[in-house]
Amino acid sequence: MTETTTRSAVLILLGPPGAGKGTQARMLEERFGLVQLSTGDLLRAAVAAGTDAGKAAKAVMEAGELVSDEIVLAILKDRMAEPDTARGVILDGFPRTPGQAEALDALLSEQGLAIDAAISIEVEDAAMVRRVSGRYTCAACGEGYHDDFKQPAQAGICDKCGGTAFKRRADDNAETVGARLTAYHASTAPLIAYYEARGVLRSVDGMAAIDTIAQNLAAIVSEVTA
Ligand code: AP5
Ligand code: MG
Repeated sequence: MTETTTRSAVLILLGPPGAGKGTQARMLEERFGLVQLSTGDLLRAAVAAGTDAGKAAKAVMEAGELVSDEIVLAILKDRMAEPDTARGVILDGFPRTPGQAEALDALLSEQGLAIDAAISIEVEDAAMVRRVSGRYTCAACGEGYHDDFKQPAQAGICDKCGGTAFKRRADDNAETVGARLTAYHASTAPLIAYYEARGVLRSVDGMAAIDTIAQNLAAIVSEVTA
């Protein structure tokens, strides 16, 4: 059953590569009727479509580095302007730099919105390579799976849509994950203190089982949007 939040919620999921941001954002989307906005997914779509932004982002993403704030903000603002976001949003993988966090504050204040919670999914770096290198997604609906941690109920068939084709990301290899973790610690981890200072920081143990984390996140969302 979909629960509804009482107003246009703005939630941020913070965490390193493989923390479970995408997995949990999709579960929250389903449970609360919110819209998942993943800048990684938006950038991968731009790369696949061959847009100017996609052409500029491709090599940067494959190297595990951060795409420029300018490109990411343009893509995010376009997506935030679409009407479905009025239901409330879960930002997955954004903001990722202090400049992006400040730009988000400005964008939300223009729209009379505010951040309800920035939730840090806390995980050990050592778990990340295994999480990311075992990941694959349904080519049709994007549902995420893992070779060891989350397999479809029937091998080779997506639980959500029945699709039978799956894909793996170009940046999901041990070398690139190292660069992505370095970028996370250098540019994104400082946002934890940024949101703590604004009184909106929450955290969950990201080393728990997927369903346990989902319950803990749902409790936070219910509380901050009540
Ligand atoms: P992005 O797509 O955001 O990738 P990421 O941050 O590296 O995060 P991931 O998507 O790898 O991990 P996730 O936390 O979503 O984990 P998932 O739920 O899939 O960004 C990619 C690139 O785009 C960046 O490197 C950068 O170049 C660019 N980019 C994107 N946004 C940007 C921005 N704002 N600014 C600049 N550049 C930007 O889970 C991983 C796996 O683990 C899955 O297989 C899942 O089934 C499994 N799993 C999940 N939870 C658990 C659990 N609790 N236990 C066991 N397994 C689990
Ligand atoms: Mg993701």
